[in-house]
Amino acid sequence: MSDNNAISLYDTLFNLFKKAISVAYPDVCDPPVIIISNSNERFGDYQCNSAMALSKQLKNDGITTKPRGVAESIVSKVEDSNLISKLEVAGAGFINIYLKKEFAQKTLSTLVKNGKILPPYTKKQKVIVDFSSPNIAKEMHVGHLRSTIIGDSIARLLEFLGHDVLRINHVGDWGTQFGMLISHLQDRFPDYLSVSPPIADLQSFYKESKARFDTDEEFKKRAYNCVVKLQASNPDVIKAWQLICDVSRKEFEKIYTRLDIKLIERGESFYQKHMEAIAKDLEAKGLLEEDEGRKVMFSKRDNEIPLTIVKSDGGFTYDTSDMAAIKQRVEEEKADWVIYVTDAGQSMHFQVLKHCAERAGILKSCHRIDHVGFGVVLGNDKKKFKTRSGETVKLSDLLDEGLKRTLEKLKERERDKVLTEEELKIAQESIAYGCIKYADLSHNRNHEYIFSFDKMLEDKGNTAVYLLYALTRIRSIARTANISQEKLREMAENIPISLEHEKEWKLAKVLIKFPDVLIKITTDLYLHHLCEYCYEISCVFTEFYNNCYCLEKNDLGEIVNVNMSRILLTEATAIIMEQCFSILGLKSVAYM
Ligand code: ARG
Repeated sequence: MSDNNAISLYDTLFNLFKKAISVAYPDVCDPPVIIISNSNERFGDYQCNSAMALSKQLKNDGITTKPRGVAESIVSKVEDSNLISKLEVAGAGFINIYLKKEFAQKTLSTLVKNGKILPPYTKKQKVIVDFSSPNIAKEMHVGHLRSTIIGDSIARLLEFLGHDVLRINHVGDWGTQFGMLISHLQDRFPDYLSVSPPIADLQSFYKESKARFDTDEEFKKRAYNCVVKLQASNPDVIKAWQLICDVSRKEFEKIYTRLDIKLIERGESFYQKHMEAIAKDLEAKGLLEEDEGRKVMFSKRDNEIPLTIVKSDGGFTYDTSDMAAIKQRVEEEKADWVIYVTDAGQSMHFQVLKHCAERAGILKSCHRIDHVGFGVVLGNDKKKFKTRSGETVKLSDLLDEGLKRTLEKLKERERDKVLTEEELKIAQESIAYGCIKYADLSHNRNHEYIFSFDKMLEDKGNTAVYLLYALTRIRSIARTANISQEKLREMAENIPISLEHEKEWKLAKVLIKFPDVLIKITTDLYLHHLCEYCYEISCVFTEFYNNCYCLEKNDLGEIVNVNMSRILLTEATAIIMEQCFSILGLKSVAYM
């Protein structure tokens, strides 16, 4: 751990108490270290609740000591630190921990001086985040939108923590469906090798070819033949396949650009050679079993369905591509950690994949594999999210609608009268896309989620609009006082941040929790904690602002006094909120 990292309060307190307990009770092996953060200040800022559990453990060993006595022994062994101002034993044996203000002051001053917050220490790892991953020639639907938003935010978090992140778009660009698509393309556009076919709507193209495939035997035969040629890399067929992929790719790209999301496309087709190799390898290791002509692999865990590695016609499947991909990622990319972001419906697939990869010796105990699942998206009517006519909603239409509704809201507030055309456009995009992302991220991802523009565009409560406005307002305080960012940094060197007022101290304590919030979400990959934290900051900031003047104005509205220390606290708040926004993929705006 270096001085350059933000300090995790939780970890530091944990280590202090762990040490104290082991000094006070050297004979207890693996003593319980329980540290919690307190929302009720009467019981300290944090609390150590180890004494009760420890007293029980001691009793089992034949030593009777009351929890209060245990708590007192622990307290007597806690080393002095720059973190704790006071410890007190309360009630049945709780240890109330009071933090030192100097610690928070120093942390926040450094933050403003640097103009940014540094991440807490984490061991650098190579992480692959496999997200978005739509299928070629099929509509990219709201499920893929959820994967895109959640995956991007996880990647942003890990990038901020300093990991080496590879953002992979595992698009469905391979498989037997391409046989019929290619044959149909060859019939419809015989000149496709020289003139690019003008396919505007790949969905209807898909439907047309599927209809022919289902009714026309001769066509079906040709389609199968095409798959064989595709697998054998026949140049004309590959060209047709590329043309089809390009049409989808361009559509996907538009969505990613609008949402400011970066991804490296590495679809199922990338693993062709790896699929052949893995199938042979698993076969040679005796890990495949025959099942009605298919070759399957069992994880050997109860209630787990097997992976289909080779189909009865000799072809490969989604399972094969994932087995090949996990091997390539771990062995060639040297990934320590692979995260898959898909709907919860695929959780069994990824569970079996992980167990099979362990069984095959690909994954070792040092690897971390996570399936980040999420619930289905529902419409306002609590039914599956569809258009009125029952079609899948086109993502580009959805984003357009978001823009339209946002503009209406901005006009309702007469923002079009005060903002320049350009400012209005920036605000519109930031709010529209920010709302869509935030509405998704602020819900526990395991739950189903109701997509509602009305809800997400509300300007009260835990919404992106509320938070974006909050940050804009916070930033405008220093601007009103005519204090530039450079000046703020300089001030942070010389003017201490006072935390005397109860509300100043309350705000400071929320701000210094930031590293702990990040560590928590790195463990469970639930981003709604970060949204809740953002909301907490803005609520506590409002309390502070309503009680502590930053700028004093006279009756004419002229500034007569500026409280510099509070301006610094305001800036620290803005820096942390901005960092949270950046992890959540929201863009803050100067004027809205
Ligand atoms: N294309 C798949 C789908 O639409 C998602 C792929 C997820 N990634 C993976 N490695 N299987 O459901």
